[in-house]
Amino acid sequence: MEDKDEDKPGRNDMTLAAIMEQAEDDRPEPVISVHNLTKTYILGGKTSVPALRGISLDVYPGEFVAIMGPSGSGKSTFMNLLGCLDRPTSGEYWLAGNLVSSLSSDRLASIRNQLIGFVFQGFNLLGRATALRNVSLPMVYAGLSRRERDIRASKVLDLVGLGGRINHKPSELSGGQQQRVAIARALINGPALLLADEPTGNLDSHTSIEIMGILQALNEQGLTIVLVTHDANVAQYAKRQVAFLDGEIVRDEPVSSPRSAAEEWEKLNSEHGVVVEEETP
Ligand SMILES: Nc1ncnc2c1ncn2[C@@H]1O[C@H](COP(=O)(O)OP(=O)(O)OP(=O)(O)O)[C@@H](O)[C@H]1O
Ligand SMILES: [Mg+2]
Repeated sequence: MEDKDEDKPGRNDMTLAAIMEQAEDDRPEPVISVHNLTKTYILGGKTSVPALRGISLDVYPGEFVAIMGPSGSGKSTFMNLLGCLDRPTSGEYWLAGNLVSSLSSDRLASIRNQLIGFVFQGFNLLGRATALRNVSLPMVYAGLSRRERDIRASKVLDLVGLGGRINHKPSELSGGQQQRVAIARALINGPALLLADEPTGNLDSHTSIEIMGILQALNEQGLTIVLVTHDANVAQYAKRQVAFLDGEIVRDEPVSSPRSAAEEWEKLNSEHGVVVEEETP
């Protein structure tokens, strides 16, 4: 006899419920889980500036999120909280399963050092130190010998295509190369999360593509990235966009087909006949 079980009402629903429950169990822990986060700055003891008005957001491993929004909308304030550089006025922040919103400054600094890599608009490199020294510095607490640190730093510099520039100081590097050093420095401790606040803000459009190419390649390898940009073009390289306005999230959606920086970079160079000196990601 034919098995009609599949037609019985309710059966498919139950299966669906079971599948959904299973999917929930299999879902990885978010890298970032933020609940109702607020930040109010107090100026001169009385004027209060509500910079964040209740932000809730989950970011899962392997995501590439662009935070967008006009000037003053709270993007940097939010990044500073995500980066454990500042503490919220209220709300919860879980970073890789740790409730960081209530940690002491010491614990916060140690979590930050272990779990987070930063890239800033202005590169923030030590001017008198070589690329190698800039990249190896965050490892001083890792208990490695100087030689081990140097080997590791030069490997990461290789990864961002700067193997041939390890002894250059920032003033002897182009803007794009300096930002690559900053990216290598951000990666050196194997972070769970890379935070980038306007990483292409000081770069021309060609160099921006180069930097976005490196970030996309790292994301392909599984690195979770949250990037702030006011530039809608740059946000197109991300897989998800979250828009801020007046301290609130007003839009949160996936990018249906993100731009590929590697493809654009290749096309640009073939069009202009540029000889690429360094390895590109
Ligand atoms: N340290 C501070 N003290 C007081 N108010 C601040 C402080 N930092 C930021 N603000 C205020 O908080 C709000 C959000 O600022 P924030 O720097 O987060 O904006 P943003 O989105 O990063 O802007 P931009 O695109 O210009 O970088 C603004 O109104 C700003 O004036
Ligand atoms: Mg800002």
